[in-house]
Amino acid sequence: MLGPNSFNRLAAHGVSLAANHDEIAHENFAQAMHFQVFANLMPGNKEVYRTRVLPSFQRERGRRPSNRQEVRGAMRRDPYHQMWSALRRTTQELMWTAAQTGLNRGFPALQQRASNYLARPTTKSSLTLDPTIAMPRYITAVDIHCMPGGYTGEVGSNDVYAGAIYDRGVYSITQGFLGPHVDGIGRTIAAYIKRSHPRFRRGKILDIGCAVGHSTLPLCDAFPAAEVHAIDVSAPCLRYAFARAESWGKSVKFAQQDAERLRFADNTFDFVTSGAVMHELSTSSLHNIVREIHRVLKPGGVMIHVEQPQYHGMEPFDQFMRDWDTFGNNEPFWGTLHDLDLTQIAVDAGFKRDRVAETMEAGDGGRVYNVEKPDAKTRANWFFYTARK
Ligand SMILES: C[S@@+](CC[C@H](N)C(=O)[O-])C[C@H]1O[C@@H](n2cnc3c(N)ncnc32)[C@H](O)[C@@H]1O
Repeated sequence: MLGPNSFNRLAAHGVSLAANHDEIAHENFAQAMHFQVFANLMPGNKEVYRTRVLPSFQRERGRRPSNRQEVRGAMRRDPYHQMWSALRRTTQELMWTAAQTGLNRGFPALQQRASNYLARPTTKSSLTLDPTIAMPRYITAVDIHCMPGGYTGEVGSNDVYAGAIYDRGVYSITQGFLGPHVDGIGRTIAAYIKRSHPRFRRGKILDIGCAVGHSTLPLCDAFPAAEVHAIDVSAPCLRYAFARAESWGKSVKFAQQDAERLRFADNTFDFVTSGAVMHELSTSSLHNIVREIHRVLKPGGVMIHVEQPQYHGMEPFDQFMRDWDTFGNNEPFWGTLHDLDLTQIAVDAGFKRDRVAETMEAGDGGRVYNVEKPDAKTRANWFFYTARK
């Protein structure tokens, strides 16, 4: 069974796993199985909804479901959906297990390489950790998207395990469509800044929730004269991000900070960005983070968050399918986020309403599998939540 993008294509760097043949085969199988469940079995949900779940709902209630919660109540009793959902969860776990197979063997050597980068006397990037940081409860309460150990699990000194498993797992989960450097979202953000601010060269950019730097490094490439900062609460992800960036000669100022309480002065940044972070935040933290972003942006500076689209205006069935992650994938704030009035949140944080935008933008480099047009060449379109101070 072959998936769309083999692990042989994943770009190597100074702290990547040197996976052997069997480990790559295991990861390729998990990714391919995920692809089959997503691309070939997922459309069956719509078919059973149309042919048996909806007619039965209408017979009982004399109307169509009015929201995704009602669709869910009916669909979760259907055996096809039960099977699909169980398989989807199984492949999610399988992808992490496959990543762990190689890491169980290769991690000591990988950790040693990371420690060597961390001990270098002269570096292009920098790393500031804060051992006193208080972890947000929404980060530690569940292993988000079923990643074993979560973002913050640590057992040894200089631990980079969470970063290492995240790097490979995300390649699987996104089926390699974000590219060999897993950076399609970061490239999309960089392309958006170039389009909307063609004269921007120097100045300061902050990437919040950078994890291992997938969303950060394209900003360095696109704006070599800019000062790029990246923060995250996770020390193991940041150590890995630092070593990965160092090995590629990139210059990023990494720091362990909570985006709800940024340690930057008012009016510091030209752009504050985030890639695929908002859906993992609690609602109160999202409010606090947008307020902090407003504080640290320079006047005229721009906030840019990239996400999956909001649910507003979507058919209840489509909302229900998109909402699978809330219940099946340890993403407790997924559905909550997609119902929020983000423009109002930005206004509450201090942005003027006419400077806030919620748009769909063309992805750069990333491709998505389109169930309606399964040619696998559809460009990823991303939801952009932006505001200018
Ligand atoms: C899905 S990852 C996104 C990573 C990266 N932006 C990318 O595109 O691959 C979300 C990251 O946000 C971080 N995060 C969540 N809440 C945070 C907070 N309050 N402050 C800083 N980082 C946070 C998590 O630790 C995690 O690394």
